[in-house]
Amino acid sequence: MGKMISFANQKGGVGKTTSAVNVAASLGVLGYNTLLVDLDPQGNATSGIGIAKRNLKYTIKDVLIGHVDATAAVIKTDFEKLSLIPSNMNLAGTEYDILRDDTSEPWAVMKNAFSDLKNAYDYIIVDCPPSLGMLTVNSLSASDGVVIPMQCEFYALEGLSQLMITIGKIKDGYNKNLIVTGILLTMYTNRMLLTQQVKTELKRHYAGKLFETNISRGVKLSEAPGFGVPVYYHDKKSKGANEYLAVATELSTRI
Ligand SMILES: Nc1ncnc2c1ncn2[C@@H]1O[C@H](COP(=O)(O)OP(=O)(O)OP(=O)(O)O)[C@@H](O)[C@H]1O
Ligand SMILES: [Mg+2]
Repeated sequence: MGKMISFANQKGGVGKTTSAVNVAASLGVLGYNTLLVDLDPQGNATSGIGIAKRNLKYTIKDVLIGHVDATAAVIKTDFEKLSLIPSNMNLAGTEYDILRDDTSEPWAVMKNAFSDLKNAYDYIIVDCPPSLGMLTVNSLSASDGVVIPMQCEFYALEGLSQLMITIGKIKDGYNKNLIVTGILLTMYTNRMLLTQQVKTELKRHYAGKLFETNISRGVKLSEAPGFGVPVYYHDKKSKGANEYLAVATELSTRI
């Protein structure tokens, strides 16, 4: 049975998309059949792996509220063992549509839509939007695990407590199997004192959850989406490519 993993954090710009794209691509490189699902109306994961956001036949919106079979929305990418269900601005407003639709379980729309597809992949990686709205709730309700990308900042700790509360509620109410697969430190620079302080706090409160690998701040990682490729296909030897491969390896041992 495939594992679905949400990359989620309601805080914006913390490296969710960069991590979802590069972990998914790295899992493909490691030989796992992987599906990346773009669940953000910004469509950054879609353009980040070179798929044009305009004129898509189907997007994740059609799967969630258009009764399109998830398999029909899958696009093969140019990268090893990596497929994508894309997204674009059309997804904006879907949270409202999910609630307005006459479904008795609005939180389970994604879970139901992916029940068949789950067996076709080793890993399904979901790039969530920066909010704790219905899209993220659906993703968490459908997932086996959640990876929380975060930056080492003071406010990040406050955001993390809120996110953990939400994850706890979803676990209690909708998805008892959900586990926090790991907390991933992104845009990491270990020269800063604050970084060390935040890391110490994280270790104190969430022992065992921190990925051993941190993702360093690096120019290759920030320029790769401009070329429409994961960093491994932009510069195999870069630090970013190696760190994301290490995270993918660690992930595969955790879930
Ligand atoms: N390790 C890194 N080194 C350098 N730049 C990075 C790194 N990780 C992410 N970035 C850059 O930081 C910005 C935000 O990253 P990203 O889009 O992955 O965050 P996000 O959490 O998905 O944002 P949003 O909340 O808007 O969806 C992007 O411009 C990205 O290229
Ligand atoms: Mg994003």
